[in-house]
Amino acid sequence: MSETRAQWKSKFGFILAASGSAIGLGNIVFFPANAYKYGGGAFYLPYFIALFLVGIPVMILEFGLGAWAKKSFPLAMRQAGGKAGEFAGWFAILNAAFITLYYVTILGWVVGMAGEALANPVNEIFMGKTKLAWGAGMQIPNPAGTFFAMISTWLPMAGVLFVWLLNGLLVSKGTKTIEAAVKIFVPLMWLTMIILIVRGVTLPGGMDGVSYLFSPDLNVLGRMDVWKGAMSQMFFTLSLGFGVMTAYASYLPKKSDHSHNAFTTSLLNCGFEWIAGVAIFSMLFALSIQPKASTLSMMFFIVPQGIAKLPMGAQAFAIGFFFLLLIAGLTSSISLVEALVAAMQDKFKLSRAKTLAFFGILGFLGSAAFALPKVIDPGLGSNGTLGLTLLDLMDHWAFSYGLLIVGLVECLVIGWGIGSHRIRDFINQNSKFHLGRWFDVLIKFLIPLLLAVILLMNIVQGEVLGGLYGSSAVTNYVPKGGILSSLPVIILFVWLLGTLGLAFLLTRAKGVDEVDAVCSEEGGMQ
Ligand code: PHE
Repeated sequence: MSETRAQWKSKFGFILAASGSAIGLGNIVFFPANAYKYGGGAFYLPYFIALFLVGIPVMILEFGLGAWAKKSFPLAMRQAGGKAGEFAGWFAILNAAFITLYYVTILGWVVGMAGEALANPVNEIFMGKTKLAWGAGMQIPNPAGTFFAMISTWLPMAGVLFVWLLNGLLVSKGTKTIEAAVKIFVPLMWLTMIILIVRGVTLPGGMDGVSYLFSPDLNVLGRMDVWKGAMSQMFFTLSLGFGVMTAYASYLPKKSDHSHNAFTTSLLNCGFEWIAGVAIFSMLFALSIQPKASTLSMMFFIVPQGIAKLPMGAQAFAIGFFFLLLIAGLTSSISLVEALVAAMQDKFKLSRAKTLAFFGILGFLGSAAFALPKVIDPGLGSNGTLGLTLLDLMDHWAFSYGLLIVGLVECLVIGWGIGSHRIRDFINQNSKFHLGRWFDVLIKFLIPLLLAVILLMNIVQGEVLGGLYGSSAVTNYVPKGGILSSLPVIILFVWLLGTLGLAFLLTRAKGVDEVDAVCSEEGGMQ
């Protein structure tokens, strides 16, 4: 048989890597922004239902699948559900690839903002007095100004290049380099977050934010968008529906306790998310800043504005905050790159260095597109640049819908293909926590049904096509008239072709194991 598969050095290394993948921008900024948008304390009910009913079971399934098949996602899905399974697996990897592109762009912007915070007094640049070190010298007198002025320069391209180089370096030797990186970055992330939370809750009035975060407003529970928000947030934050967890678990010994690993990873992730929520809400409430913000504005001007108002050490906190975002984002983006590289390697037995170089260059070019500095909204009060508009449009499909579609399909493929009981039996052999038949009910019926209802309701309510025809918030920033007005259609087309089209080609392509099989059959006939 083939050479032996790489393995994590220790269980601890695996948990660090899996939780490092899960903990990322989603926890530090997307979660607080969503929690506020969807009603503060009210968000917790859909959130917990999403966690226990969907998140943890799907993570058990993805871990179990990887360790059972000992392959990355597309081939593991083929083993579970034939060619249709493999197609779904590639769809997931390609959808994840689009998310990786703009995830890295956001990290490039983080590098840019860190650079500005290093070079300028933060109580000026984050408080409406823009004077960029490397910027175009624009003067935009509001707290968003620094960010918009920065992204409309070429500086983020350097950031994007830097982040891609780091990704390449950290994934270069697979589990070996990933494990070494997460051993440093993950503890550092926790430490930085603990410093931020202590700062937040010790500010006078900080606890008001905490109580807002925990006091329920049950009125929002009837809103479908709240449930969709909670579900997409759960898939994203736990790194589910990307093929990442399956790739990581394929490097574990078969005998590991996969349900225990899934509980530990999910709880570490959600624990981090909560303390991030507490840190950010306490700080913003104490400093009288309303956390009403989109995810990106939360990251790039609401929180920085809060930090700039801190009574002491604002400069150091600002740099610490962007540093935290960068390392948390890196331990996530390397898992995305690894999932893609492992999938290509498993199927085509390519050299890691060449595969990585190829996708690194392609990835840089893709991320560069989302960093395009051309200003298409001179008001800059909204989405500003071409790159940011492209990012919003892509996010509408890849994040809001792609992940839920993958979740739905993977449950169906495994549940009804090979049968979830097979994976369950495999996991139960080495698991202290015994998965009962309820697990099959969840995977075969309940989760797909829940996800299908959410997706259908969104279609019925016009949310899906809103991304195309202008009724959605996403299209508010697309220029009316001219070639750029067709961007929503172009991006939908790129996404469909890039996921479905390429998944079709990759599924049809003969993998090395299939070629081997054909050759030995032919050899046998002679
Ligand atoms: N879970 C990461 C976050 O919360 C995002 C991510 C998703 C990373 C999938 C890797 C894979 O930011």
